[in-house]
Amino acid sequence: MDFDNLQQATIDALVRLAESREKSTGDHVERTASLCELLTELIRENGLHKDEVDQDYVSKMCLVSPLHDIGKVGIPDEILLKPGKLTDDEFEIMKTHVDIGLKALTGLHDVLPEDDVLNMGMEVIKYHHERWDGTGYPHGLKETEIPLPGRIMALVDVYEALRSERVYKKAYSHECSCKIIFNDKGSHFDPQLVDLFIDRHEDFAAVYDMKKIC
Ligand SMILES: [Fe+2]
Repeated sequence: MDFDNLQQATIDALVRLAESREKSTGDHVERTASLCELLTELIRENGLHKDEVDQDYVSKMCLVSPLHDIGKVGIPDEILLKPGKLTDDEFEIMKTHVDIGLKALTGLHDVLPEDDVLNMGMEVIKYHHERWDGTGYPHGLKETEIPLPGRIMALVDVYEALRSERVYKKAYSHECSCKIIFNDKGSHFDPQLVDLFIDRHEDFAAVYDMKKIC
């Protein structure tokens, strides 16, 4: 097995382990990867973040995006699977999935500090709950202080979650999900990414419905 295959297999194993805790996620992993691939490809096609985003970057985002929630493996069942709104205290515990996920990869990072894929995976985990207006967690970073993988992941994660049925919510339609994301342009999400998403929203619906695997 070469290094790339080992990397893919390791990511798959970590993601499957975390996914096994949440019964409702189903095709969540494949969808997340494909939706991330689409949004990152649109950034590339439109010449945004030219110094950073090339074809290799698109492939890496697709590969690492399913890692974003691996830390949920450390969240107790009564919170992770609660069929209703979390209390403030429960939400504080839920927020720790970011640190739990990062800690899971720290040992690997110590061995491979220069590995691009691992570093991007850690950024996706660390920043996917930051918000453009600085009200997110765990760091409260604002706008471009948030590394791009975190901004991409934030939008894709919310779109996928809105469209999907979860223990605490019904699935929203594509149209309703688009409205929610558009309303959060510049508050939750990077406005440039929302523009790309809205402009090609039918493609996101198609990817979600087809469960395309990259
Ligand atoms: Fe998360």
